Amino acid sequence: MTAGSGPYHRPVMCREVVEVLAEAPAGVVVDATVGGGGHAEALLARAPHLSLIGLDRDPDALRAAAERLAGYGDRVVLRHGRFDALDDMLNELGQRRISACLFDLGVSSAQLDRPERGFSYRLDGPLDMRMDPGTEVTAADIVNHADERTLASILRRNADERHGRRIAAAIVARRPLATTAQLARVVAEAVPAPARRRSHPARRTFQALRIEVNRELEILETALTGAIARLVASGRGVVLSYHSGEDRIVKSVFRRAAGESPPPRPGLPPTPGNEAVVRLLGRRARTPSEAELAVNHRASAARLRALERLPASPSV
Ligand SMILES: C[S@@+](CC[C@H](N)C(=O)[O-])C[C@H]1O[C@@H](n2cnc3c(N)ncnc32)[C@H](O)[C@@H]1O
Repeated sequence: MTAGSGPYHRPVMCREVVEVLAEAPAGVVVDATVGGGGHAEALLARAPHLSLIGLDRDPDALRAAAERLAGYGDRVVLRHGRFDALDDMLNELGQRRISACLFDLGVSSAQLDRPERGFSYRLDGPLDMRMDPGTEVTAADIVNHADERTLASILRRNADERHGRRIAAAIVARRPLATTAQLARVVAEAVPAPARRRSHPARRTFQALRIEVNRELEILETALTGAIARLVASGRGVVLSYHSGEDRIVKSVFRRAAGESPPPRPGLPPTPGNEAVVRLLGRRARTPSEAELAVNHRASAARLRALERLPASPSV
């Protein structure tokens, strides 16, 4: 799956996603992260009662999706934008209620595999990492201008990086840094030897910076809550997340929608749950099959959560 050669992106847990969403009532499914259109295509092929609104913040992804989904004609509408603008976009399209939604979070293989996008610690390129190249802040801006404490906190908050303080100090000592290879080297030299042997030492640093550049976690809760509120009775929602920070937010939004009380905070009385508007399709997150992992190592961290809107829940 290198740039320009293989498929744009191999959809993760595609069979499982389609099985859940194909049971949604007739109407519109919103694919909030349409990427190369892999999940979208599989769903449109399997579920003729559904049409699709696909959104992505990366114009390159939309081009790939448009090509892949061309055969579905007016069953597909594609829009450029961030998924926290979903409400405005659906209002503009006159689409009050939706039958299903899909959020397949994170980056695509095409983004990772193009060195000029600056997402990969394995390929040398500029320190960019913007999913939407029209936005202002790049990874280089953060790496070269954030103070040491801010850098350490980004690494801890967005990627649970245990060596965040050492890495932040090393970055500050060695900057300015311009390329992904320079950053990967600084990180590799900063972490203790045993950490270098586990996975690539720069993996978490790159993840944390990418999340910061694209403000991935701060917009997720609003977007998911808004999408769930638009589901018709028996409408379905699926989220695929790829790291614990994302999955924590997804789990909490899903459980709140299912009427569960949030876990009590130490020393505070328990907060009662809201009225349930969904049922969870499975209590635990599902993970990819061994067969899928054997052919797609990028699926390894995937967690799938799904829900169904209750028949008689309050509408938006
Ligand atoms: C894992 S890929 C999706 C792949 C897609 N499901 C497929 O089968 O090809 C994630 C996509 O979501 C997009 N994305 C990530 N965060 C987004 C956001 N907040 N708003 C819109 N698109 C986003 C990325 O640009 C990327 O193309």
